[in-house]
Amino acid sequence: MVIIRPAKRIGGRLQMPGDKSISHRAAIIAALARGTSRIENFSTSEDCAATLRCLEALGVSIEHAGPDVVVQSTAAFSAPSTPLDCGNSGTTMRLLAGTLAGRNFESILTGDESLRSRPMQRIIEPLTMMGGSISSVDGHAPLSIGGMPLQPIDYELLIASAQVKSSILLAGLHANGKTQVVEDQPTRDHTERMLRWFEVPVETGNGDRAGERFATLSGPASFAARDVNIPGDISSAAYFAAAAAMLAGSSLEIANVGLNPTRTMFLEQMRAFGFSIDTDDLREECNEPRGTIRISGAPASLRTSETETTLTLHSALIPQLIDELPLLAVVGSQIDGGIEIRDAAELRVKESDRIAATVAGLRAMGAEVKEFDHGLRVNGPTRLHSAVIDPHGDHRIAMTFAIAGLLADGETEITGANCVRVSFPEFFDLLESVVDR
Ligand code: S3P
Repeated sequence: MVIIRPAKRIGGRLQMPGDKSISHRAAIIAALARGTSRIENFSTSEDCAATLRCLEALGVSIEHAGPDVVVQSTAAFSAPSTPLDCGNSGTTMRLLAGTLAGRNFESILTGDESLRSRPMQRIIEPLTMMGGSISSVDGHAPLSIGGMPLQPIDYELLIASAQVKSSILLAGLHANGKTQVVEDQPTRDHTERMLRWFEVPVETGNGDRAGERFATLSGPASFAARDVNIPGDISSAAYFAAAAAMLAGSSLEIANVGLNPTRTMFLEQMRAFGFSIDTDDLREECNEPRGTIRISGAPASLRTSETETTLTLHSALIPQLIDELPLLAVVGSQIDGGIEIRDAAELRVKESDRIAATVAGLRAMGAEVKEFDHGLRVNGPTRLHSAVIDPHGDHRIAMTFAIAGLLADGETEITGANCVRVSFPEFFDLLESVVDR
């Protein structure tokens, strides 16, 4: 349990640990390469540690010292002797399922209770179409994966999911021919970028219909090891940026953060709310844009209330904000007109039901909230009250309500708060280091 006391302002200069999404991809793609790859600033998350453990169990040599990881591989995996435990990590399970489909050995992917309840049919279907053989418990893990040599596929995503796209592209690396994935709403493109960094040709571009994107690669692909430097995690930075933006008098700088355009929609929305957030020192390293974020806190009535209508987040915006939506709901509770989130059914099948958890937390803190099947609406501005918050073991819910607690009128208790280690073990220490009471 962690107690969060109200804050006056936030101040200082921070760096975030390495991006979780990019770290998973760096480790898996390095394991598929021949030779030794050094990965600097690897994510400190439990999720990425699970990916490393699974790769080790597949015979890949991994040395992990501080923030750096050395992956040494022959590009051939050996049959694991025990089930591969993906812990709480959907990315580990879905990306490894694609990596392991069509191998000449069987692997079993399992995880904790939350992960075993999350939908896997979304990857089972395309991987089976490619010739993989995947058995599941009614579309859920444990997954048993093997199958015939894979056929390439031309696949239109049914759900806007970077994990599904990546699973198919990774499977496509060892299918014989051209694999293409088409998405009608853009999702994060770290797999495409990391493969290119490892000199695997991946073609990407706009499709015929508005908003449509495609990614294409040819297999079988064999490629050599490369060193990688991972930028700081923008989804982790978002909690600090939101706190600093909402607390008048704050001034915060977060250096070396990933600024991939498929991940920066949170910053754009914050600006649309009227908050002061700038980026500079922009550069690209290892095919990923990065830079510094500067945030200045503004007084409560931030949003220009010319419109007086509720800001609605919906359709193609949702996949680009997916991990920040609970936090944006809390921000919405502080702005004129509040916020409405639509078309976000995916939130119900994350590490917890994030619509239910966000609604329950905001209500406990005194906000007026409506729950929809595929979203929520929160009125604002609201003075939040102290409360006891149960994050249901979900790291993003715990961090979201820690930020809400900084704005509340008393002490907020977050139960089971050590679930933050799933993505960001340093979260509470870093928060204390910048909070001014
Ligand atoms: C992730 C993609 C997103 C996101 C998750 C990480 C990734 O999931 O919610 O935290 O690394 O590809 P979906 O793409 O399945 O929505």
